[in-house]
Amino acid sequence: MGYRKFILLSFVCFSITHLSAGDLNSWLVEQSGFAFDRLKQNISPAGTSKGVVVASPSKKDPDYFYHWVRDAAITMEVVCTRYLRATSSSEKNQLERMLFDFADFSLKNQSVTTPSGGPGEPKFHTDGSSFVGPWGRPQDDGPALRALLFTRFAKILLMEGREDVVRRRLYQAKSDSLIKFDLEYVAQNWKETSFDLWEEVKGHHFFTAMVQRRALSEGAWLAEKLGDHGAAEWYRKQATQMGTLMTRFWNVGKRQIDATINWDGGVNYKTSGLDSAVVLGVLHGDLGDGLFGVGDDRVMATVNKLESVFEVIYPVNKNGQPGIAIGRYPEDRYDGYATHGEGNPWVINTAALAEFYHRLATHYLHTQHISVTEINRPFFQSLGLTDLQAEIGATRDQKTFKEVISSLTEKADQFLSRVKYHAADGGVLSEQINRHSGYMQGALDLTWSYGALLSAMDHRTRLKN
Ligand code: NOJ
Ligand code: NOJ
Repeated sequence: MGYRKFILLSFVCFSITHLSAGDLNSWLVEQSGFAFDRLKQNISPAGTSKGVVVASPSKKDPDYFYHWVRDAAITMEVVCTRYLRATSSSEKNQLERMLFDFADFSLKNQSVTTPSGGPGEPKFHTDGSSFVGPWGRPQDDGPALRALLFTRFAKILLMEGREDVVRRRLYQAKSDSLIKFDLEYVAQNWKETSFDLWEEVKGHHFFTAMVQRRALSEGAWLAEKLGDHGAAEWYRKQATQMGTLMTRFWNVGKRQIDATINWDGGVNYKTSGLDSAVVLGVLHGDLGDGLFGVGDDRVMATVNKLESVFEVIYPVNKNGQPGIAIGRYPEDRYDGYATHGEGNPWVINTAALAEFYHRLATHYLHTQHISVTEINRPFFQSLGLTDLQAEIGATRDQKTFKEVISSLTEKADQFLSRVKYHAADGGVLSEQINRHSGYMQGALDLTWSYGALLSAMDHRTRLKN
């Protein structure tokens, strides 16, 4: 190699390793606009009913051109966040229209006859009719996620003094109104088993239970606010009962939260019980009351185990890049096209880890206190934080406290750097990251991938401000 070439190469390498934080920042700025544009393209695309959210524009290999209730509700959370932060009235109006279109389409979904006969029906055609082919149904996280989204939107509208709109379009004491229809279903069915968010296992799932409990609790708040006292009391009672039962997900022997208990059908090869669905359950279902929230030591222990397992099984994690690419669960066989292959890391789960770390840092900054227990000590150790004392106060132990916060935020950014590294040209995201080559794989432009990244970025911005 010529001398000049060597100098150039060293400079490039130097730049890559030393400018990565700045690189990430500028990538995120660009990616935020791009991701939201792509996400919007999957809402009411040409030839579909207004309010449809397709999971991906891909119509074959795989065919994801359907409206999944879960993906749609999670996507609309991102739209709702943008609505909340919008500063111009034209932007606000556009986002508001998207949310109400989704409300109208959801009402249609709630009223058509479906194979499962209720709002646990997982997916619909883009004209609003029911998908009747064989599928894992019901999936009871869907109605809970939808109720959560619309309850949040209702709360924002109430803050804006628009109670009449809330009463007209979102919540009435009648059980066939949008939010109440879903809440009634959740309140009456949470004891039943259903298929998980990955549509493979029937049982009681941590993810589903987390979002159900939060939907009931926040729904109770809304019902109360609108004078539907009987319903409020009934939802609150169910939420309390759920909280007691949910401690069963903690596996004392394995020191992890199991994804599923009371298995009664579907895929039966998930022997480890470890699943990133637990992290998603925390992100979407944290009620702020401490039970399985981001700062719960049992959640932290589970996060730590998930990272360790995926770090080892995906060769791509040994490519010298920062961060760990995270999959659904170690025994996964779905490669994005069929279920006889090897599972891969997923964009949503890798982004979810970034969000988790940002939110944990925010949580500590808020409580001004960190408890290191026997259960979460390995989590801190894997951040390089050994010898931490049991109780760390923000003022009393300022140096250590700050050290923990900066380790958490650095770690969060490593997951975002991972997503950046594997994104295709221009920031295009599919569902999965090939575990060997690192290339995007599976459904192209997956709506949820953009949504998960945008949500993680939003929490990053909130932390920095
Ligand atoms: C498609 C589902 O959406 C995915 O989660 C699952 O792994 C495969 N089908 C196999 O059931
Ligand atoms: C497969 C995922 O497992 C499931 O969670 C999702 O709803 C569908 N794909 C559609 O994106």
